[in-house]
Amino acid sequence: MSSPHRVPVFPVDHLSRRPVMRRGGTSLRRLWPSDGPAVRAFFLRLDPETRASRFMAAVGDRAAASYAERATVMSGVVVGIFVGGTLRALGELRPFGNGPSGLRRAEVALTVEQGFRRAGLGSMLLQRLAEAARNRGIAELRLSCLSHNVAMRRLIMAFGAEMRLDDGESEGAIRLAQATPLSLWREGIETALDFNLAVATLPLSRPPPPLPRAA
Ligand SMILES: CC(C)(COP(=O)(O)OP(=O)(O)OC[C@H]1O[C@@H](n2cnc3c(N)ncnc32)[C@H](O)[C@@H]1OP(=O)(O)O)[C@@H](O)C(=O)NCCC(=O)NCCS
Repeated sequence: MSSPHRVPVFPVDHLSRRPVMRRGGTSLRRLWPSDGPAVRAFFLRLDPETRASRFMAAVGDRAAASYAERATVMSGVVVGIFVGGTLRALGELRPFGNGPSGLRRAEVALTVEQGFRRAGLGSMLLQRLAEAARNRGIAELRLSCLSHNVAMRRLIMAFGAEMRLDDGESEGAIRLAQATPLSLWREGIETALDFNLAVATLPLSRPPPPLPRAA
C-alpha cells in the first residue's frame, strides 16, 4: 500500500513511524476499555453534521453515548489521537467477514473533531489501522461514506482505494499487502508503547480509607 502523499505535521519517530509523544503534545495510540471516559466525551462533543457523516444517519446524544460505551469492547482495533491530552481523532477497524474468494476483510471508520482537520490526523489513523489489519491477515479494507463526503473520498483515494458509488453512498476498497516480519515487529513495538502510555494516563488509585479501630 502506498503511504500518504504528504509529510504529517507532527514529529514522527523514524524507527516506528509513530508520532512522538510530548508532554501536552500529540500522540497516536491504541485505545483500551480504560479509555472509555475519553471515548464517551469524544463522541458527545461531535456536532450533528460530523455524527451524521460518521454514522451515515442522524445520531443523538443517547445513541452516541451508547455507541461510545461499546466502541472499545467490540471486536476489532480502535486507535485515537490525543492533542494536548484530549482525544481529538478516533479510528476503528472492525472485522467484516470474508469476501467471495475467502478474502479476509475489515471495515474502517474515521472521525476527526472539527477544528483538528486537514492536519493529517485522518491519514495517520488510516495508516495505523491499515498496518494493524495487514498484520492480522486482512487483505482488504472497506470504507463507506455518504457520496457527498468529499473529504473522506479524497483521503481514502490517496491510499489507493477503488471507489464505487451506490445509491447515495460511496464505498472504497483498499487492497493490503501481506504482513512482513518488519510490519509485525513494528506493530509489536507500537503496541508495547501504547500499553505503557495507556497505563501512564490511568488515574492514580487512592489508598483505601483506614479501617475503624476495634473498641
Ligand atoms: C474525513 C475525515 C476523517 C478526514 O480527516 P482529516 O484529519 O481532516 O484528514 P487529513 O488531514 O488526513 O486529510 C487527508 C486528505 O484528505 C483530503 N481532505 C480532507 N479533508 C478535506 C476536505 N474538507 N475537502 C477536500 N479534501 C479533503 C485531502 O486530500 C487531504 O489532503 P491535503 O490536506 O494534503 O489536501 C474528517 O473530515 C472527518 O472526521 N469527517 C467526519 C466523519 C466522517 O465523515 N467520517 C467518514 C465516514 S466513517
